[in-house]
Amino acid sequence: MTDVLPTLAVTGATGVVGGRVAGLLADAGVPQRLLVRHPDHAPNLPGASVVTISSYGDGESAERALRGVKTLFMVSATESTDRVDQHRAFVDAAVRADVGHIVYTSFISAAPDAVFTFARDHYATEEHIKASPLGWTFLRDNFYLDFMPGFVGDDGVIRGPAADGRCAMVARADVARTAAAILREPDEHHGKTYDITGPEALTMTEVAEILSSAEGRHITFHNETIEEAYESRRSYPAADWEYDAWVSTYTAIAAGQMSQVSGDVEAVTGQPPMSLAEYLAQR
Ligand SMILES: NC(=O)c1ccc[n+]([C@@H]2O[C@H](COP(=O)([O-])OP(=O)(O)OC[C@H]3O[C@@H](n4cnc5c(N)ncnc54)[C@H](OP(=O)(O)O)[C@@H]3O)[C@@H](O)[C@H]2O)c1
Repeated sequence: MTDVLPTLAVTGATGVVGGRVAGLLADAGVPQRLLVRHPDHAPNLPGASVVTISSYGDGESAERALRGVKTLFMVSATESTDRVDQHRAFVDAAVRADVGHIVYTSFISAAPDAVFTFARDHYATEEHIKASPLGWTFLRDNFYLDFMPGFVGDDGVIRGPAADGRCAMVARADVARTAAAILREPDEHHGKTYDITGPEALTMTEVAEILSSAEGRHITFHNETIEEAYESRRSYPAADWEYDAWVSTYTAIAAGQMSQVSGDVEAVTGQPPMSLAEYLAQR
């Protein structure tokens, strides 16, 4: 049965990035296999076959779903303590299923000692993929600029220890456009790592100013100390690794690890990525 399924597989299609990628591929008439945990939530797209997996961590179901796949778009899993193990299990399943090429959504400045703690998961995943026989392409996404309005507290203040660091945040729509372009011509992108950023690197003070103009209210940035940042976030019940991730979102910006502006989105797609102001205007 699997031999009649499309040889391009897309994960995360019930989410934003994977859903947009699937939609763009369908618009372009590309047949695809959507690997999803919840088929009831999968988009209904022409040329798309829905195949259910239980999760990345279930290697057996993943291997079955991946048989006959040549190119695989892997959206990184929702953050958890075992995310890297789940990623490794899914990559190993892809190897057993004889997948040819994996396109993985990684993170900017991925490194074992990255300031943003989740970027360390992405480094570990990249290394696991590189050590496998799979061909690969990595999309190292900056922070999603779609989330900037959500950084604003009820009192109109963005709080975090970002100091005057800059962040080249990128719209998920541009991540998806880039991924879809790569998936249509994967051989051209074999062994490449792309930095997926927006067109400019903004301080959080500038983000607050842009949000103020777009939303017609006064939004400011308060540069918390690291101690203040942990304290303010502890009012939300969460695990220590989540507090570390939330605070390091800002300390990574302060450390300059999010500031590099790349031309990779335009180079791959022929169209520049949108700025925060452009994103807010078209919402
Ligand atoms: N760069 C950034 O600022 C940033 C911010 C947040 C997240 N991220 C990362 O970027 C990814 C894509 O972002 P998004 O906005 O598209 O997220 P999203 O809307 O939450 O979608 C995530 C997709 O991945 C699937 N998924 C998650 N964990 C999985 C697992 N363990 N096994 C199989 N499928 C799994 C989800 O399936 P279900 O529908 O079944 O849950 C969903 O389809 C996220 O998953 C996260 O790793 C990046």
